[in-house]
Parts: sequence; structure tokens; C-alpha cells
Amino acid sequence: MAAYRGMGPRRVAVETPAVAPQPVVAPEVAEHKAHDEKLAAPEVPERPIEIARETPTPPASEVVPPTNAVADNAAAAALGKRLFFDKHLSTDATIACASCHDPAHGFSDPKPFSVGVRGQLGGRHAMPITAVGFQAFTLWDGRADSVWAQPIKAIENPKEMDLTRLELARVVATNYRAEYEALFGAMPPLDQTPVRGKPGMVEWDGLPETIRNDVDEVAANVGKALEAYERTVTCSDTRFDQWVRGEVTLTTQEMNGAQSFVAHRCARCHDGPAFSDGKFHNIGVPSTDVGRSGGIPQLLADSFNGAGLFSDDLAAGQVKPAAAATETGTEGAFKTPRLRGAGQRTFFGHASHQETLRGFIADIYRGGRGGRDVTVGTLDPQMQGVAVPNDELDDLVAFLHTLDCPGNVTATAAP
Ligand code: HEC
Ligand code: HEC
Repeated sequence: MAAYRGMGPRRVAVETPAVAPQPVVAPEVAEHKAHDEKLAAPEVPERPIEIARETPTPPASEVVPPTNAVADNAAAAALGKRLFFDKHLSTDATIACASCHDPAHGFSDPKPFSVGVRGQLGGRHAMPITAVGFQAFTLWDGRADSVWAQPIKAIENPKEMDLTRLELARVVATNYRAEYEALFGAMPPLDQTPVRGKPGMVEWDGLPETIRNDVDEVAANVGKALEAYERTVTCSDTRFDQWVRGEVTLTTQEMNGAQSFVAHRCARCHDGPAFSDGKFHNIGVPSTDVGRSGGIPQLLADSFNGAGLFSDDLAAGQVKPAAAATETGTEGAFKTPRLRGAGQRTFFGHASHQETLRGFIADIYRGGRGGRDVTVGTLDPQMQGVAVPNDELDDLVAFLHTLDCPGNVTATAAP
């Protein structure tokens, strides 16, 4: 049973606490610390940033995920790291998770659309895994309600890795048996099973339920180990964090950008420790992708969701699917990206329609954009009043670069 940490209201700076992920501090201590940080923060007399406000407690599921008992287990993270860089998770051993989530590019893909097995192109930008541990749902449309439920979708996607869960179980049995069994217990016997098999294939659907459940459990556990690793990719000691702790000063331009960020209501959606509310909004990115409204039915039908057989806390795991079922305004809505490390990436938005940070902000958040209709669904009401004048664009970009991740590449190079 996972423990919950960091509960209770917190005081945060610039609407976003500069916290190391999952801080293990009592709420009262956090409050005092933030108060001290506030006092230590450099004074900017002319355009003072709104320094602090109360934020509601994040749901515990966003802190330590209750459905993954090994989320913070070091041995699981070590196994997950090896899996993340292993090309044998793809059908022709050409593609690893890291092929599309490249540590050298902030764990995202420098290409607008990723290339999977046999040179196939995907249809959405590969977002980073950085700071994904803060998010309640994964993928642009949130069709996974945890970090661990996501990997099997990439592994079995015919355009991405095109392995099946039966082949995945064999890879684990052959190459990772000892580490796996130490964490999760005995691997199921696979000698009576066909080579390839996943739901929808006759070879799989004809297998006895007990065998299917055993193999599904291996896929879930692979996901849980991957999540334990992904939770260590955090980007939590940026210049912004150092500034909040009073260790460095920001330039006038960066401070102006921070002011713009608040004034133009960016923090309505890009708030919290990862600069994302983890919610879904239609902000009018040009594409015909329906996003969240397509993701919810998939989430509810997903045997790897928090309410399913492989969840380590069924009661807590039911909360997110239940909440998702009642969401409104979901057509054309996509998950708010985390902005930590955004300045080190290329291509922005789910459709990669802009190559630069400046270009994306200028196109989507420009003042008086009035003209362009949203392609699907309706514009999120929270976009009301979001209007960045051209002469503030450089300041905003400078501010976002204070969130550049330090030491990304060396700290997380392939094992
Ligand atoms: C062929 C490229 C490709 C491969 C291989 C790949 N991914 Fe992804 N990844 C993507 C794309 C594209 C998205 C966004 C897809 C979507 O939202 O529909 C994504 C999204 C994600 C997300 C969601 C992040 C968030 O903020 O919600 C995570 C986590 C992730 N991938 C982890 C992995 C892991 C772990 C593996 C290996 C098992 C993997 N990926 C393999 C391309 C890839
Ligand atoms: C109503 C909520 C909302 C507001 C307000 C908002 N954003 Fe966003 N932002 C989003 C969503 C959702 C996306 C992804 C949209 C998509 O791809 O369809 C996004 C995407 C982005 C991206 C691209 C990141 C990436 O990795 O692809 C940047 C940069 C960004 N926003 C910055 C800002 C700035 C700067 C402001 C203020 C001027 C702002 N946002 C205001 C919700 C919001």
C-alpha cells in the first residue's frame, strides 16, 4: 500500500512551487520554508510578481501513485532504466523507448513526428517523460490513468514498437528474469504459449483466461518498473528553482517574462510543480485530432487502468476513471504540457505545428487572435483574456528558459 506524502495546503511561489519531486516534508514545514523563500527572493520593485498563493492539495494519486507499489523502489527503477533503453522491446529490435524520448533532447523527440518500427510515422508529437511523475493521466488524450499503464500501449502499437505482450514476457523471461522475480515473484511458464499474442489476435483470444492474466501481469509489472525509472527523470533544480530558493537572481528580462507569464494567465493551466495542471484544454491548436473525447472511452475500457486487476490499490484506483467519465468540454482538448525543459525541446503542441517556443506562443496566445476558429470542439473558456503582445514574446521565452533542465544528458545516459 503506497504512502501519501506532501498533503495539506501549500504556499507556492509564482503559482508554482520549486520543489524537488515528491517532497517529504510536513505541510507546516513546507509552509514555513516557502515563507522563508518568499522573504529570501530578490526584490523587484517595479513589476512585482505575485509571489504566493494557496494551492489546493494535489490528489494523492499525483504524489505517490497508489496503484503502483514499486513506484519509488530503487531496484524497480534500475530495471526500468534498462528496459527504457532496450531495443528488444520492439519487434525488429530497432526501437527503444529512448529512441523517441531521447535524453539528449530533454527526453522528447526533436522530430515533429516520431519514427517507429519499419520507418512508420506517428500522428502526435512525442512529449517528454521529464517530470511525468507529477501527472494524473498520461498521453496527450490521457487514455492512460497512470504512468505504468502507458508503456504497453507504445510497445504494442503497430506503428511504434509492434511487439506483443507474449513476446514482451519472453524478453523479460530471457533477459531480466532474476531482477523481475526479485521484485514481482515467479515469472509464469510460457512454453505452452504461441510466440506472438495480444488482444484481438486469435492466438491470444483463444488462450485460457488464467494464462492471459498471468501474461498481462508481466506487462503491468514492466510498466511499473518503467514508471519507477521515469519518476527519477525530474528536472527539479533549474535556475527558476534556485531563484525561488534565493540563490540566484534573474535578469530583468527574465523577471519581466515571469510577470508576463502571470499577467497573461498562463498559470491558469501551467501551474503546480511541473507547470501543468494535468488537465485537458482545447486551446485551438490547428488539427482535426479530437484528443480527450477519444481518450476517455479508451481509458474506461483499459484493463490496465487503476480500477483493473493489476492495480495495487483498487479503491484509490477507481477515482480517476470515475472522474474522467464525467469530464466535459473534452473535444479537441489535450493535456497541458509540463513546461520544465520546454526551452530545450523542438516542436510544440500535440500536432507539432510550430517548431519553436516563440513561434508556438506567438501563434496560439497572441493578442486579438480572434480570426482562427478552433478546428474541433470549442475553445476552453479559460483562454478568455489570454493575449500576449508581440513585444513581450522575448521576455516570456527568456523566462521559460529559466526552466531549462540541468545536467539532463550526463545524469541519465544509457546504462
Ligand atoms: C515510436 C516513438 C515512441 C516510442 C518507441 C515510445 N514512445 Fe512514448 N510517446 C510517443 C508519442 C508520439 C507520445 C504521445 C502519444 C499520444 O499522446 O498519443 C508518447 C507519449 C509518452 C508518454 C506520455 C507523457 C505524458 O506527459 O503524458 C510517456 C510516459 C511515454 N511516452 C513513455 C514511453 C515509454 C516508457 C516507452 C517505451 C516502452 C515509449 N514511450 C516508447 C512516442 C514514442
Ligand atoms: C486554458 C489553458 C492554458 C492556458 C491559459 C495556457 N496554456 Fe499553454 N498549453 C495548454 C495546452 C492544453 C497545451 C497543449 C495544447 C495542444 O497541443 O493541443 C499548451 C501548450 C503550451 C506550450 C507547448 C509545450 C509543448 O511542449 O508542446 C507552451 C510553450 C505553452 N503552452 C505556454 C503557454 C504560455 C506562455 C501561456 C500564457 C501566455 C499559456 N501556455 C497559456 C494550456 C494552456
